[in-house]
Amino acid sequence: MANVIYPGTFDPFTNGHLDIVKRAAKLFESVLIAVGDNPGKKTLLTRDERIKITRDSVKGINNVAVESFDGLLVEFAKKKNINVVIRGIRTVQDFDYEFPMAQTNNVLAGGGFETIFMMTAKEFSYISSSLIREAVQFGGDISKFVPPPVNKFLMQKFGKVKR
Ligand code: COA
Repeated sequence: MANVIYPGTFDPFTNGHLDIVKRAAKLFESVLIAVGDNPGKKTLLTRDERIKITRDSVKGINNVAVESFDGLLVEFAKKKNINVVIRGIRTVQDFDYEFPMAQTNNVLAGGGFETIFMMTAKEFSYISSSLIREAVQFGGDISKFVPPPVNKFLMQKFGKVKR
């Protein structure tokens, strides 16, 4: 069984991400969630905030860890001695975005760098971090879309904690 990296911006980590992590943790020896930055996105949460609430969300899953990375994903993966990346796919639009990224990463790594796609469970296929960011900033109840630690943090930062 391989060790795999699950990279993303996780701004914030959602129930869709958690579903992928739980399923990957059953298939692979270990899952390293790598919290990085997508240069095309301006994040709502700081890197430290994203790491903390992601860590709190996966607490208790023994073979899952969360780390921060800067720079190229393939360089980080090399340092960790991991050559398999997991990405979640919700729709064909995701595939259009993911396919060139997977190919580019493989070329950047000089070959042998695999991206494995997992289909997001259908109940989470409409969830996106950007819609959650938008909803929470306008006071929406996001508790159905994110793990409890993420909901608690976002409510404390942007809204009222639900009782
Ligand atoms: N369930 C629900 N939503 C999901 C999901 C799932 N299973 N999988 C992905 N998503 C959504 C996220 O909510 C997010 O939505 P948003 O765009 O509305 O915010 C979107 O899909 C993807 O975000 P995320 O999963 O956080 O990853 P990302 O695409 O932002 O991550 C990096 C990109 C960080 C992995 C990539 O930019 C990277 O590797 N950067 C480092 C630099 C590098 O090496 N670049 C070369 C790349 S070729």
